[in-house]
Amino acid sequence: MSTRRAMKKVSTAGARRRAEQTTRAESARPTPRPASSSLAALLNVADAEAAARRAMPRGAFDYYAGGAEDERTLARNRDGMDRWVLLHRVLVDVSRVDLATTALGAPIAMPICLAPAAFHRLAHKGGEAATARGAGSAGTLLTASTIASTSLEDIAVAATGPLWFQLYIYKTRDIARDLVARAEQAGYRALVLTVDTPMLGRRERDFRNGFKLPPSVKMANFEKYGDQFERWNAPGGMAARVHELMDHSLTWETVEWLRSVTSLPIVLKGIVRSDDARRAVDAGVQGIIVSNHGGRQLDGGEATILALPDVVDAVAGRAEVYVDGGFRRGSDILKALALGARAVFVGRPYLWGLAAGGEAGVLRVLDILRGELELAMALAGCARLSDIDRSLVRPA
Ligand code: FNR
Ligand code: LAC
Repeated sequence: MSTRRAMKKVSTAGARRRAEQTTRAESARPTPRPASSSLAALLNVADAEAAARRAMPRGAFDYYAGGAEDERTLARNRDGMDRWVLLHRVLVDVSRVDLATTALGAPIAMPICLAPAAFHRLAHKGGEAATARGAGSAGTLLTASTIASTSLEDIAVAATGPLWFQLYIYKTRDIARDLVARAEQAGYRALVLTVDTPMLGRRERDFRNGFKLPPSVKMANFEKYGDQFERWNAPGGMAARVHELMDHSLTWETVEWLRSVTSLPIVLKGIVRSDDARRAVDAGVQGIIVSNHGGRQLDGGEATILALPDVVDAVAGRAEVYVDGGFRRGSDILKALALGARAVFVGRPYLWGLAAGGEAGVLRVLDILRGELELAMALAGCARLSDIDRSLVRPA
């Protein structure tokens, strides 16, 4: 679809979606949808990962699964979950557990959102549009990546839930400005500036696999800017391309610049330090995602679940704090909420679902995580999100 035609459809889609959003998450919790037999056989996120491994070519699966260098941060994100233990309350009426909340004012049916991830068409031909429909059916929020394999306009047409737009800033600043304008026009509700990727981490699986994007997978947002941007595969592979294109000189002035070109709320993604969190709030951002890019950037970094409490304390309620990285179980998510996260973003889990079954697979994984969180809350004696506080966790 041409960008112009898509833009036309988008404004009505954006308005429609904004109208629908106010009702969707306020409605009773979405009833679990019957999944197909193969998807119904998936009991947890690990099953979805195994299904994705079977469904995807090795290079694409490793691009999704892999982390930087020795993948120590990738592992620490998971290991960090066991560094906190839960202390459940007893004799609380949990006959009805309510997960509905909001993210920067956008109603969502649960505190589990979808992190930005590049190139969904590597997982399924439906790409980001399928992901967006799955997220919408689960009543939650999708953050679309700058380097999506579906244009932000086409994602907006497909989406039925709230959308945020994740921004990478290239050396050609006018492109960033245009992407922001396009996202506003398409009805995206916030901008997520990724600040932990001045250049791409060293993904050795991709080098070993000689991984390249198949011709059918492009950086769809860049079609209008000419081929130099649309193709991601440089001779030296992705890292070389990112190094070539990305502006690796971003500073805190960049946040000021972004605020000057948009009226949308701004979220900084990739913060792990309390001093940076304070600077972010002082710079006027409305949200922070505690993240290490799923262990794909600086290897040897802290687990996000361990970095979270200091960031929450530093922000002191002046912005919404979210976290991503290694969340695979409802009990992991409960720990993050107890440590002060307003919501958890997941990446690989929904990509596994997408690979396993397209839109229905994304929904299946989100339903699994929702069900696990609901059960963990009930077993911990929490009927509402407001019942969850730091007294529920202590260091193991
Ligand atoms: C990512 N991530 C990412 N982040 C971002 O800001 N922009 C992007 O385009 C991408 N692309 C991307 C691709 C793939 C394949 C993965 C796995 C991850 C990072 C992502 O938003 C998130 O921080 C992590 O994925 C969270 O960790 P888990 O949930 O995957 O363990
Ligand atoms: C990645 C970049 C594209 O993690 O964000 O692959």
